[in-house]
Order: sequence, then C-alpha cells, then structure tokens
Amino acid sequence: MASFFKNRDIISITDFTKEEILYLCKVGKSMYEKEKKGERHSLSGNLKNRTLASMFYEPSTRTRFSFHTAIRELGGGCDGFSGTEGTSVMKKETIRDTIMMMGANHFDAIVMRHPLDGSIQWAADVANIPVINGGDGKNEHPTQALLDILTLYMMNNENLDGISIGFGGDLSHGRTIRSLSLALSHFRDVTIRWAAEDFLGMPGDLTDLLEERGVRVIRDPHVRTVLEHVDFFYMTRPQIERMEGVTQKQIMEMMDRYRINSEKVEGLKVKLMHPLPVNSEVAEIDYPVYFSSAQAFFLQAEFGIFLRKALLYEMLSTETYLPFQSTLPGELAAGNNRLYRAGREKKKEGMFIDTISSGTVIDHLKPGTLKKVEASLDLENRGYSCIAASIQGKKNPFLKTNLARLTERDLKRIALVSPEPTINHIENEKVAQKYVYLLCSNANCVSRVITEDVPPKFYADNSTVRCRYCRRPLRIESRKVTEEDRQRFIQSLPPGIDQVKYD
Ligand code: NCD
Repeated sequence: MASFFKNRDIISITDFTKEEILYLCKVGKSMYEKEKKGERHSLSGNLKNRTLASMFYEPSTRTRFSFHTAIRELGGGCDGFSGTEGTSVMKKETIRDTIMMMGANHFDAIVMRHPLDGSIQWAADVANIPVINGGDGKNEHPTQALLDILTLYMMNNENLDGISIGFGGDLSHGRTIRSLSLALSHFRDVTIRWAAEDFLGMPGDLTDLLEERGVRVIRDPHVRTVLEHVDFFYMTRPQIERMEGVTQKQIMEMMDRYRINSEKVEGLKVKLMHPLPVNSEVAEIDYPVYFSSAQAFFLQAEFGIFLRKALLYEMLSTETYLPFQSTLPGELAAGNNRLYRAGREKKKEGMFIDTISSGTVIDHLKPGTLKKVEASLDLENRGYSCIAASIQGKKNPFLKTNLARLTERDLKRIALVSPEPTINHIENEKVAQKYVYLLCSNANCVSRVITEDVPPKFYADNSTVRCRYCRRPLRIESRKVTEEDRQRFIQSLPPGIDQVKYD
C-alpha cells in the first residue's frame, strides 16, 4: 500500500482517490494511538537520514511547525525559511532557482507555501524530489483537507459517508474550504450547509463542481439554523490580505451576523472546527465558545501532526534517495498555449498597410490597448521598428515590427494588457505562422508573472481547457478562432496533469 505515495507530489486534493484518503486516515490513526500509548519514540528510526526542506513564502504557524514536528518525530531533519527576508528571493531569485537550490542541498522532499495560485505545481515540475503543497494562494491546501478529514474520521466513528457539515466565515478567498469540500466529495451522501455574506460566499465554480460530484450544497441565511442541522461546523477567518478594495471595518460589519458566539452553539451537539488562526480583531469565534463542549479546533490542530507523520512516512520511507539533477527537463522550456489558426490564402483588400517582408504582426488587440501594448514592448528603444495602426472601420488595432521572434516575456506582456492577441510571423512577405497566444485568466496564477518565466500550459479536462498550474478553466473568447481551430487545439493538449519525469 505504501507505494501509493512514494516520492509523489502532493498538489491538489483532487489527485487523491477515496481509497488513498482512507488509507492515510488509518495510518494517521495508528500514529495517534502510538502517541496516546506513550510510544512516540518507537517511530524515531523510520525516517532516519531523511530531510525535509520547508519553504514558506507566506506566514504560517501550524502547517510549518507540524511538518517540522512530524519529520523530527520520525527521526528525520528539517531546514528552510519562514518568510523571504534573509533569502535570495529579496534579490529577485525565481521560484525555479530557489527550488533547484533545495535539490542541490540534498533534501528529500519540499513543503512549500506561496501566495501565487499554481506555484506549487510549478515548483513540482522543476524539482526532481517530491513537493508538498502547504497552501498556494487561494487555490488549495491539500494537507489541511487531509487533516480535517482525519479529524472528522476520528470524531465520527471512522465513517465519512453521510456527513453533514456547515461552513462559515470567508468561503470565497481561502483555500481550506476548496480543498476540504473537494475531499468530502469523495464520500457518499455528504451535505454542506453554508451561511456567509455574498461577498464571502462559496464560489460558483466550486459549488458547480461539488454538485457535479454528488455533494448537496445548501445555502442558509442563518448560522444558528445551520448549526442546528449539522454534526460539524467549519468556521474560517476572513482572508483580508487576499481582498482588494475592502476595509477591515466593512469586513467586520459583514461578519457581525455570522460570528460564532455562545448563544449560537448553546444546547447543540455540534463540533466546531477551524483551520486556525482565528483573527483576534474580527473574533469570528467569540472567546467564551473556546470553553464550550463544541470546541474541537485544538484537537484538529494536533491531528495535523498525525496526518503529516503518516504522509511523510508513506512518501519517504524508501531505501534509496533521489540524487540531485542539475539539468532542467526540456519540457519546462516552452508552453503549449499557442492556438494555431489555419491561415487564409487571400488577404482581404486593405487589410495590410505596407507589407513587411519579415517580422511580426500583433493583431486583434482590444480597443484602447494599443498604446499600452506598445509601451510594454518598448520596441524602438530595443532597436526595432514599431508601427501601431488601426484600420478604419475595424475596432481591433494592430502593431507591426521587424522583430522576427517575440520572446515569451514579450508575448506575456502583450497578453496581460490585451488577452488573446493573434501573432503573425511574417517571412518573405508571407504569414509563416499565425496563432492566438493564450494565458490563464486567473489574475493570481503563477503563469502570469513575467519574471517567474513559467511556460503557460493547459490540459483538456474533457472539453474544458484548464490551466496546468492553478487548474482554473479557460474560456477561449476570440471570435477569430474557428470551431475547427479550437477542436484541433484541444486535441493537441494532454488529457490531465502528467508529472514531469526525470530519468
Ligand atoms: C490556513 C491557511 O493558511 O490556509 N491556516 C492553516 O494552514 N492552518 C487558514 C488561514 O490562514 O486562514
């Protein structure tokens, strides 16, 4: 069974099967029992000589310490950083190069937290040792979901079918709700009831996915009625640091009706969970509730140790280690985001002002973006020609340059200002190549950050195109793309996330 997890990257909870989740619950339970029987030391030879790198670009108390405790109690070592001050990230080092340094330092695995969605998938693509997602932006937090599941398993007589659970607080800007609800979707007859302000509510893409996966999702305006209907209630803090254009005061007002206080839990058997931390200013859980029988979040935090011990043990208890590879696999050099368009034989009259013999035409720019695209490329200062133009009667302007090959950074700069540009490579006065350059539309996705140089990649989840990194769906909107071009593009994509292989 241990081969389930050997040297595996832990990126998204959706990568786990129900069988694997239950297996980890069993191992986690045995770790818990050893602890309670006073047998902690019996595990200390299990990961002797194994080391874990912890790379926390964002604040963390529980996740970071519980990984450190877990590896230490299994006899292994741990080193790393907490916050980027004091690291070369301050000198603008990329995720890619920082990851390579962890490999060069002979770590056996990495646990990483980062503010960008999809950053951990990218780190895993670069590293030739397993990478564990300790939270990526507002995307996922799979080990939190696993420890939440272990807590539910232990509190609910080892049964995860038929669970009814309430969600409250901020269900929109956090990552724990996404991962936990998707983890629960593996089980039968699960009901989620939630109560939160619209602004903090469950994202539509998530509720759609959950319903597709057989989970009942019910919204209720009142927290008290949710608490009356469920066995477990999972409260979360408003993720103010991930919100734009709202003040703490506005959030405090939004949270007013939803705060968990003694009256709301009085007389109920509900168990109150929270990934923690509780925000002491918002006080989404009122202090007297800490002393009620509902409080289960400190137990949940301790289960984090058992779950992470189980996971690290399953991943790393091997005889051999993965030696460092100083070369990067070729597949990291380029993306698969160019949607090639079948060229038209004949140009419509008046389409081209002064034909160029060789260079690039950047076409179908969004109205009003021409100046910004031009400025972002800075072509003239780089020694190239740059003609910005629009054709009378057409609303999409275009740009012509004698620069024959735009760099990936150039292409991203264009697409960030004006999504889905058409790029025409001109050779001998002919269009040699014509493609629409696609970029993930999730504003917080790692693949959009110019300086990280992440090659944009997509996969086809049936007919839905998804970003390889943050896994959000991409809607191709360009009216210039024919259904035939689109289908050909989808067929060219891999059907899922195949991990980068090192020989
Ligand atoms: C959560 C996180 O970082 O996503 N905390 C945790 O890992 N226990 C929740 C939060 O920060 O609100």
